[in-house]
Amino acid sequence: MRQQTHTALSKRVFAHIRNKTTDRRPQVNHHAVSHYTCPQRFQQERRKLFRELPILVTLSCQLPSPGSFITDDNTGVPLLIVRGDDGKARAFINACQHRSARLADGQGRVKRRFTCPYHAWSFTTAGQLAQLPHSADFTGVDQQNCRLQERPVAEAYGMIWVRPEGDAAIHMADMLCGLEDDLAHFNFTDYHHYETRRIDVAMNWKLVIDTFLEPYHFATLHRTTVAPIFLPNMCLFDAFGRNLREAFPRRTITELMDKPEAEWDFVYHSALVYVLYPNTVFVMQADHAEVWRIFPSKDVVDQAHMYLEFYIPEPVQSDKAKAHWDANMDLVCRTVLDEDFPVGEGAQKGFMSGTGRSHIVFGQNEPALAFFEETMAQALG
Ligand code: FES
Ligand SMILES: [Fe+2]
Repeated sequence: MRQQTHTALSKRVFAHIRNKTTDRRPQVNHHAVSHYTCPQRFQQERRKLFRELPILVTLSCQLPSPGSFITDDNTGVPLLIVRGDDGKARAFINACQHRSARLADGQGRVKRRFTCPYHAWSFTTAGQLAQLPHSADFTGVDQQNCRLQERPVAEAYGMIWVRPEGDAAIHMADMLCGLEDDLAHFNFTDYHHYETRRIDVAMNWKLVIDTFLEPYHFATLHRTTVAPIFLPNMCLFDAFGRNLREAFPRRTITELMDKPEAEWDFVYHSALVYVLYPNTVFVMQADHAEVWRIFPSKDVVDQAHMYLEFYIPEPVQSDKAKAHWDANMDLVCRTVLDEDFPVGEGAQKGFMSGTGRSHIVFGQNEPALAFFEETMAQALG
């Protein structure tokens, strides 16, 4: 984030403190409950948003060197993402060209090749067939044509995106729509992976994202966890194409009022929540980043799973540092898993019963929430 952005955002907060306001919409929004329950809509979302669009699969630091790979099965398409000898990240369908056995599971590092566990065909990290045992028994099979099926990849700002279905190249500028400046300045290429947790919930995947999009609930639901840290009922909201940025200022931000503008560090005095369209919630905390990748689960509208990935600026080298990051992780889990999600699951249960109201209401003080749900509704037409 550029210094001018630090300054501009800080000034918006100071104006809100003076005027006892927050970023607001001109009117409330009524939102149909069916967006969280309709099976047809859900199937459309799975196809249009989770297959045809590029999805953030990981940060670059998870593929640190040639041969590093991860697998991803969250979109219904089995993906194998690997860094090649040339340093380039590539994505392949995770299926052998002989009889489609999976070539890899989990994540790790291959020395030179992926060797299929079934009959030992092997493939380079660039996807080329390297060895076909008993090749004399495959007369007429063109080995040049036995490349793994490749999918478009884009890597920039320390992030890796893959389009699970289709061959169209990924254009980052079209996707990020002005967020590049913020992302470039965070230097995610220098970050280190600390921990990943998988979390399963009985909620529609969009309702999971809604959880992150307003601070109106902090004073009640998070009274003892994060409410003491943040200014109450205050957010800054900005849209970047279909992505959004929402800032929650920390109470400490008032310390900046006594310092020269050139020293204002807005990131240090806030939590910045980005929704990277369609399904990634990126939270830039003062000194670390949380990536929440959220997916529909089990092919049913009211189930979701997600990965909470914790990234830190330096590798852990002492017990003290480990205790610090563990305490951070613990606060996140107590806040979101113990406080937010039980409430969300309760709401989803009510929606599914079909007995409640047909619409819920987003207050004027919930601009990011209204924007996110509107954007999702428009995506399906
Ligand atoms: S399925 Fe891979 S070698 Fe046979
Ligand atoms: Fe919350």
